[in-house]
Formats: sequence, structure tokens, C-alpha cells
Amino acid sequence: MSEDYIPGFGNHVSTEAVPGALPIGRNSPQRPAFGLYAEQLSGTAFTAPRHENRRSWLYRLRPTAEHPPFIRYERARKFAPESGDTRLAPNRLRWDPQPMATDVDLIDGMTTMLTNRPPADLEGVALHIYAADRDMDARVFQNADGELLFIPEQGRLTLLTEMGRIDLSPGQIAVVPRGVRFRALLPDGTARGYVAENHGALFRLPDLGPIGANGLANPRDFVTPVAWFEDRDEPFEVIQKFMGALWMTTLDHSPLDVVAWHGNCAPYRYDLARFNTINTVSFDHPDPSIFTVLTSPSDVPGRANADFVIFPPRWMVAEDTFRPPWFHRNVMSEAMGLIHGAYDAKAEGFRPGGLSLHNLMAGHGPDVATWEKASAADLKPHRIDGTMAFMVESCWPYRPTPHALATAQPDYDAAWAPFPKAKLPG
Ligand SMILES: [Fe+2]
Repeated sequence: MSEDYIPGFGNHVSTEAVPGALPIGRNSPQRPAFGLYAEQLSGTAFTAPRHENRRSWLYRLRPTAEHPPFIRYERARKFAPESGDTRLAPNRLRWDPQPMATDVDLIDGMTTMLTNRPPADLEGVALHIYAADRDMDARVFQNADGELLFIPEQGRLTLLTEMGRIDLSPGQIAVVPRGVRFRALLPDGTARGYVAENHGALFRLPDLGPIGANGLANPRDFVTPVAWFEDRDEPFEVIQKFMGALWMTTLDHSPLDVVAWHGNCAPYRYDLARFNTINTVSFDHPDPSIFTVLTSPSDVPGRANADFVIFPPRWMVAEDTFRPPWFHRNVMSEAMGLIHGAYDAKAEGFRPGGLSLHNLMAGHGPDVATWEKASAADLKPHRIDGTMAFMVESCWPYRPTPHALATAQPDYDAAWAPFPKAKLPG
């Protein structure tokens, strides 16, 4: 394990970039070391049950409270647009990958595609795609509307956050908590990918039930960065997403100035290749919930505000079974993306960087070509390799943004036609 990261999910971490910066035995001493400012960052309500409670204490060069008023930020035109209030057709939708960026950083290169609840409801999830070719320098972003789950598709990201530095490659994911400021560097010059924005209960590992104490995403494979800071006294833009709109203020210093911190509300990273995939060894394709990496529960038991699910490389051994995902209609709404390779329910039309939407009760499943092939396949064991698709499944139906509605593929329904009619005996 690199010394830049601390292993474990949701642990109580203590880390300092300068020895002696972290107070011992109390959170808010009368005079913190070196004149640092102590500040609590709450990830949950103060009174959340202990097993749910997330908060960290940050020790920084200047308090976050010191800032001028925010004004509207107009440059990221496709990020957090005004939502249309038109009636949404129940159609299935799919999108080609967006073109690579020209002269925008991660924030100005962000496009909101799907939303499902106003952020003020503290429920719901939004899906954004980003395409960027410029580093964020002298500007940071903070999201008051929820935690951000980064799912890179092309190009690495370096997320310089208030609480540490995360180097993130395609095939890995990272979560930045609500409110934690960061800027993104692009070590490969360009980057493209997805961001799921969770307004609701914090992502956590799913319960394992009869699977037992081990399996799926194991807690030790999540890593949290150690404290890191920059000491830069120069103008810095702070872009903030708040209640679904973008705002901006300017500081005379970098706010990435947290010298030490402790707590269990922190950014983290996970390598999807570490996922311990569990699947049938007899018959039938299990429900895709078997592939859940992280879940954000709603107030209804078992009904997720957002499930982050992956479709990783795996062996297919089921007997007398139609092996790809079956036809279905779901009370949950499904947004899917593709990190690399091909998804096993779609022969074509769903490309890495693309997106699809199957909302509440939309009939979907394998396309005609996949159905024909899988219905005739010789059912010997075979390995699905070189692919990583994901789904953000939510109990709240998604509403595509006006940009998303205007750019959807025109002919997605054709994936499911024509199927031959079943023939009854006689
Ligand atoms: Fe589905």
C-alpha cells in the first residue's frame, strides 16, 4: 500500500502533512498548533446514529468562513442547467459518447445528462459526463448538493482535494464528499468520464446477507488519501454548486490549505478490478443487485436512492439458461454507462463513454442480435473479458436535461425489433 493512502472504508483516520499539526485528545483546542484554524466538516447530521455518523475535523491555514459573496457562475453552460418542466415521455434513450473537449477544464467541461430530485430534497441522484483538456489551476470546485462519484472512462484525473490527493485512472472510482473542495489535473492531457452526484444518504457498502462476511467490494480495498495541502497566496476562484445552480467567489489564497485532519468523512478511491464478483454456478442470471459496489439507501428498506452497480469481467457457467441479462420492466430506474469493452446485453450502439436510460417500467433487455446469439449459444463455460459497464439505479425516475433530450440517439427502439413471434402448439 502506498504511503500516500490509508486503507479501509469509512475508517476514523488521523493524518497530518506537518508533524505536530493535529491536536491530541481534543478537536478544538484554544490555540491549535501553528495558529491553524479548527473546522468541523459534517457528512451527516450531528445526531445521526453512531454507525451512520460521518464527520471530520480539519486544521487549516485560514477558515472556510472567510470569503466574499458568491455570484452566479455562467461559464459551464451545460452543467446544472435549469430543468425543463415539460412532460417526459416514457421512452428508452441512449447517447453516443460526447466529443473530446476543447479548451475546458473539468468544471466547464461538465454536462448534466440526468437528474431526478431537486438537491434541496436531500434525495436523488444526478448523472453528469465530463470531457476536459485543461488543468484546473487557481480554481476549485465544491458541491453543496451531494457527494460526487467519479467514474473515469478515458484519461487519468488527479483530484487535489482539501483532504488529500487522489490519483485516479479509468477502471477506478473516487468519491468526494459533499462540500469538500478540489481541483482536477489531467496527467494525460485529456480526460472523459462520468460523475454520479448523490444528494441522498451517503454511499456505503451493501449488506451481504447470506453471502457472508466477505465478497463484492471488500472494505480494505478502499483507500483514503493522507493530508496534503498547498500554500498559495494568489487569487483563487471557488465555483460552488448549490441547490442545482452554479455560483462563484474569489479568494486571495488556495483553500486547499488543510494541513491536518482526522475523522471518517473523507474522499476515497476504489479499484473496480478488486471487486469480488459473485454469480450463479447453477442456472438463471441473478438480479444485477449481486454486482452492487456502493449503495445509498432511501427511507424505504431495500429501495435504493442510488445503487452503483458494475458489470465486470466474469465467468459465465449457468446451465439451461439465457445467459445475458433478461428482458424486464423495473420499478427502479436505470442509467448505464460503459467504461470499456462491450456490454453483454447490447451487440452494438452502446459505446464506451455512451449512456443509456431505462426509466421506471420501460421494457428493456437484450437487443435482437444478442437474443439470437445467446438463444443458440453452446453453453460451455466462457469468460466475459475486457469490459466494464456500470449502472446507477435509482428509485426516483430520471429526467434528462434539455441538452440530453436534444442529443439522444434517434433510433434506440430499433434495438428491440423485430423479434419473431412465439409459436404456440397446433
Ligand atoms: Fe435493466
